[in-house]
This record gives sequence, C-alpha cells and structure tokens, in this order.
Amino acid sequence: MLNVAIIGIGDWGRNLVRDFYEIEKVNLKVCCNLDMNALRKIKEKYRSVRITIDYGEVIEDKEIDAIVIATSTSTHFDLAKKALEANKHIFVEKPLTLNYEQAQELVCLARGKEKKLMVGHLLEYHPAVMEMKKRLSRNEIGEICYLYSERLNLGKVRTTENALWCLAPHDISVMLYLLNTEPVEVSAYGGVFLQRKEKIEDVVFVNIRFRDGVIANLHLSWLDPNKVRRITLVGSKKMMVFDDMESRDKLKIFNKGVIKNNLVDRVEFNIRYGDIYIPKIDASEPLKLECLHFIDCIEKNKTPRSDGEDGLRVVRILEAAQESLDKGGIPIRMKESE
Ligand SMILES: NC(=O)c1ccc[n+]([C@@H]2O[C@H](COP(=O)([O-])OP(=O)(O)OC[C@H]3O[C@@H](n4cnc5c(N)ncnc54)[C@H](O)[C@@H]3O)[C@@H](O)[C@H]2O)c1
Repeated sequence: MLNVAIIGIGDWGRNLVRDFYEIEKVNLKVCCNLDMNALRKIKEKYRSVRITIDYGEVIEDKEIDAIVIATSTSTHFDLAKKALEANKHIFVEKPLTLNYEQAQELVCLARGKEKKLMVGHLLEYHPAVMEMKKRLSRNEIGEICYLYSERLNLGKVRTTENALWCLAPHDISVMLYLLNTEPVEVSAYGGVFLQRKEKIEDVVFVNIRFRDGVIANLHLSWLDPNKVRRITLVGSKKMMVFDDMESRDKLKIFNKGVIKNNLVDRVEFNIRYGDIYIPKIDASEPLKLECLHFIDCIEKNKTPRSDGEDGLRVVRILEAAQESLDKGGIPIRMKESE
C-alpha cells in the first residue's frame, strides 16, 4: 500500500480525491485544503481520510510516500519543493510552475532525490490522444503539415494566471507528445477584458513553429459562448479531429487530401474525398488512467510519461508565449534552437 496525500481540494482536487481513493493499492491518508468547508465534505464522503488545513503537517508526515498537489498554480513551486525536500514522490497539477527556472529547480531536485515528479498533463492519458499517437507512429496520417487546438468556454475565470497559463498546458503537452519535435519560434496575441487593471488575458491566440516546419495554433479563452475542446491535425495522407465534447465519437479520421499532378504545361491539384472513419476508443477516464500511471511509476520505478522534463518543456513554451504577449505579439525564438 502506498500512503498518498492530496493538497488542494478545490474544483479539480475533488476529482483527484475520488480517483486516488478508488485505487486499491493506495491508502489516501490525508487531504489538505485552506477552506475547511471543502474538507468537511471530503470527510463525509471518505470517512477514513484525515483532513487538515496545515500543509506542513502533511509534508512532515513520515508515513506519506507521495503527495498530489492540486492547489492554485502560484503555490505549486513552494509546495512541490518542500515535498521533494521531505523525500516524497510528487504529482503536480498543470502547469508545473509559473516560470522556467522554478520548473528546472524542481526537475533537478527530483532527480537528486530519486523521486518521481509527474505533471498533470491529463490529455497525454486520453485514450483518443493515444490513438492519434498510434496512428501517427505507423505513418497512417503521413507527414504532419499543421495542427490547431480550440479550448474555449465561459468561465472559470482565474485571478492569478491568464487564459494562456490556465488552458494552454493541455494543448501544448498534446502537441509535444504527438510531434516529438522541438519548437523554434513562438508568438502570442491576447485580449484583456474582465481584469483590465490586473492585465490578465481572457483570450489568447498562440502560434508555434516547430523544427521540422510543422506549425501550430492555439485558441484559448474563458470568455466564449461555446464550450469547445478540439484538436485538428492535418497530415499529408489523412486528417484527424479529436473532439472531447463528443460523448462517444471523440476521434474522427478523414481520409481526405489534395493530390498534386504535374501536367506537361501546368500543375493541377485534385481533391481526394475518402471515407471518414471513427475508431473505437477505450472509454476509460483519462484522469483515472493518469492516477494509476503515477502509482505504477512509483511501484515499478518507471519514468512517468508526463514527467518533470515534459512539464519543463511545456513551461518553456508558455514562458516564450507570455514574453510575446507582453511585447505585443512579436515572435520569440526559443533559446536552445538558435
Ligand atoms: N488537469 C486538469 O484538467 C485540470 C483542470 C482544472 C484545474 N487544474 C489545475 O489544478 C489546480 C487547481 O485548480 P482548481 O480549479 O481546483 O482551483 P481552485 O481554486 O478551485 O482550488 C484550489 C484549492 O487549493 C487550496 N489551496 C491553495 N493553497 C493551499 C495551501 N497552501 N495549502 C492547502 N490548500 C491550498 C485552496 O484552498 C483551494 O481549495 C490548478 O493548478 C489548475 O491549473 C487541472
């Protein structure tokens, strides 16, 4: 049995409590939150779980093997650092931190302590995203031309981080997972409407250019009439659309494309209309798979799919996008690629 604690029982932390509690090999020992009301509700539902408002008590508890951090993003670094220093494995919600240096420090610390550092890049555990990866790996889709994501909704408006830091980690982590390549240039443009004094962007458009010429665009907003969670990928042979708002048919493969014909006197483009295929996707909950993966990595000493390095790569792109936002949208070259 692994003794697990969860710090941060807000809207998202509650889901983590449910899923970790259900894992047989886990003893969910403590839940910690600043707001006592949320903790009382946890206690009513999960009688065996201890509750506390003092995270220090959790970190100092020698019996705890792993700590899940689902607090407000601005607190991730301090809590994760303290937990690692106390020799705990940690699962940190996305984004890992709000800057690259802090993320790097956590990665080094976890390595030095030989502890697991996993980041909650939920979509890397989504069966539909794994199916996309499988089809890309066997070259069914062909060369990737470009991809774009739409993550829109009305609310939840954050007051510390903007729509970029709140929403983009999901899409960036999927893009890095699917593409296996490095970004070379990032630009971002955004709008501030609800918190003008605080300059917190509600809508952000990000462009990323990758090393092999693939381009990506992200549309992020918590001020939109539509709830959209979609990623479209266009390949030279086929195209894929992952729509997480669909209850069942989450992934569609379009056997469509444009064929170039070199004629004697000119070039001609013919459109190829093929079938639209809907693969059967495993209905497992991504969050449950993610929690199980964390426990499995601790038990078998494996590197998590969304490890600290992965978290670091995502934060690096977020930081470049933020720099571009601050400078009115100018393209930022990624340092390592120069
Ligand atoms: N993976 C996903 O799909 C997903 C979805 C939503 C949110 N998140 C992430 O989860 C985290 C939490 O988001 P949320 O929407 O639940 O926020 P929230 O504001 O609803 O909850 C945060 C909770 O953390 C608690 N907290 C803050 N500092 C604390 C401390 N020092 N000690 C103990 N408790 C503390 C607060 O009391 C609050 O209940 C964020 O990092 C967010 O980006 C991830």
